[in-house]
Amino acid sequence: MPERFSEQSQRFRPSSKEDQIVDKAREHFERTLVMIQGELAGSVAALEHPRDDEALNYGEIFLRDNVPVMIYLLLEGRFSIVRQFLSVSLDLQSTTIQTRGVFPTSFVEEQGTLIADYGQRSIGRITSVDASLWWPVLCWIYVKRSGDKEFGRSQRVQRGLQLLLDLVLHPSFEGTPVLFVPDCAFMIDRPMDVWGAPLEVEVLLFAALRSCIELMELCQHSQNSSVLLEQRLKLSRQWMHDLRQYLLKHYWVTSKTMQVLRRRPTEQYGDNQYQNEFNVQPQVIPDWLQDWLENRGGYLIGNMRTGRPDFRFYSLGNSLACMFGLLTAPQQRALFRLVLHNREHLMAQMPMRICHPPMDSVEWQNKTGSDPKNWPWSYHNGGHWPSLLWYFGASTLLHERLHPNADALLMGQMRTLIEECYWSQLNQLPRQQWAEYFDGPTGTWVGQQSRTYQTWTIVGFLLMHHFLRVKPDDVLMLHLDADLNLGL
Ligand code: GLC
Repeated sequence: MPERFSEQSQRFRPSSKEDQIVDKAREHFERTLVMIQGELAGSVAALEHPRDDEALNYGEIFLRDNVPVMIYLLLEGRFSIVRQFLSVSLDLQSTTIQTRGVFPTSFVEEQGTLIADYGQRSIGRITSVDASLWWPVLCWIYVKRSGDKEFGRSQRVQRGLQLLLDLVLHPSFEGTPVLFVPDCAFMIDRPMDVWGAPLEVEVLLFAALRSCIELMELCQHSQNSSVLLEQRLKLSRQWMHDLRQYLLKHYWVTSKTMQVLRRRPTEQYGDNQYQNEFNVQPQVIPDWLQDWLENRGGYLIGNMRTGRPDFRFYSLGNSLACMFGLLTAPQQRALFRLVLHNREHLMAQMPMRICHPPMDSVEWQNKTGSDPKNWPWSYHNGGHWPSLLWYFGASTLLHERLHPNADALLMGQMRTLIEECYWSQLNQLPRQQWAEYFDGPTGTWVGQQSRTYQTWTIVGFLLMHHFLRVKPDDVLMLHLDADLNLGL
């Protein structure tokens, strides 16, 4: 391990209070669960919001914040809450002409009435594309884990999938398999120059298609089977295949691919064979990339747009690409090497940084519209989010399970890294009141506008604890393949 970590490693001390801290976290988590239509249906985003006037919607049930919540509830066998969450979200799937098929970003019950936000109530009036793509993924994991195939096959679920697929799989002006979205359409929901085909959305599209296919296959050879279903299955499989090829071709970078990219011709017209289809000039390749990639590291870049690739590293998109098997096994290990090599940036004092590097000065002004929350090293712009650790941690543990004999040295280092990150959270989060995010280059300071007792911070930690200490085999639940589960 490089010299610079020897000092830091002092901070990753095991704690004798582990059990107490876990019990307390469980208590907090129970308090986040709320009822909808008389039944527990999910968690509010945060238990405490210091400035109530500004933070009204932190008391709502966000689909994306409930992803780790639902995974945790499934691990605990509390299937009815997950089913109620999926049902309520499905009831709220939009049927109006311009947004048909869209799932809400969040919902809440007020005096017996369900109120959903599709973006019309949020700051900047943003629609969350990720919420719609997460729904089939959660639904499939629920069906797999609980064995409730009836729910998966039911007409309302199949109809929901149909509406979603109609929204996603259609001809477009670009004619590519990616989903084109505006800025702020996912977890990063304030301006960050992430419009176009941001990695997280595209990886989620891949996982959503995979899950839709599995769920539709439940109806094959049954009464509900039809020519239309077969057509939809065929189209989804093709689309998923093309999307994966596209992402691996245009987003995956290593030191080797960069050397090829830098020497490609530019300004190529016509039908002849082209090597630089997005006409990327070598000058746009940032300096920091050279050390970042080192010899054997690799990752998926943030976005590909004509002449303007986004080379920033996004932790969630990359972790999900591992978890859902979009990356091949050797590529996953290249990603692990990259994270190890850049640990000082990505993990630092509070794992893990959402996006690297941050934009500053004029770039920050132009690209974020001088957004005061997305200040350099803060919030989405280089801030640290404890809720992200479990996605990356679970991906490495899943890799370990699926490829037990691969690169023992690297995987040993990864396990140590994940353990240390876990201790680092355990030692800090209770004192920092389970804050939403952390600021600064080392992620030491509680985020300037951070909520406290943030649900996905608490439950993300509990998930890490579960996969490391309680039942390591359970990580297999996150594998989207049908044959790797008990019930089906
Ligand atoms: C913020 C985050 C968003 C999250 C929401 C609720 O808006 O940017 O990703 O879903 O808070 O926690």
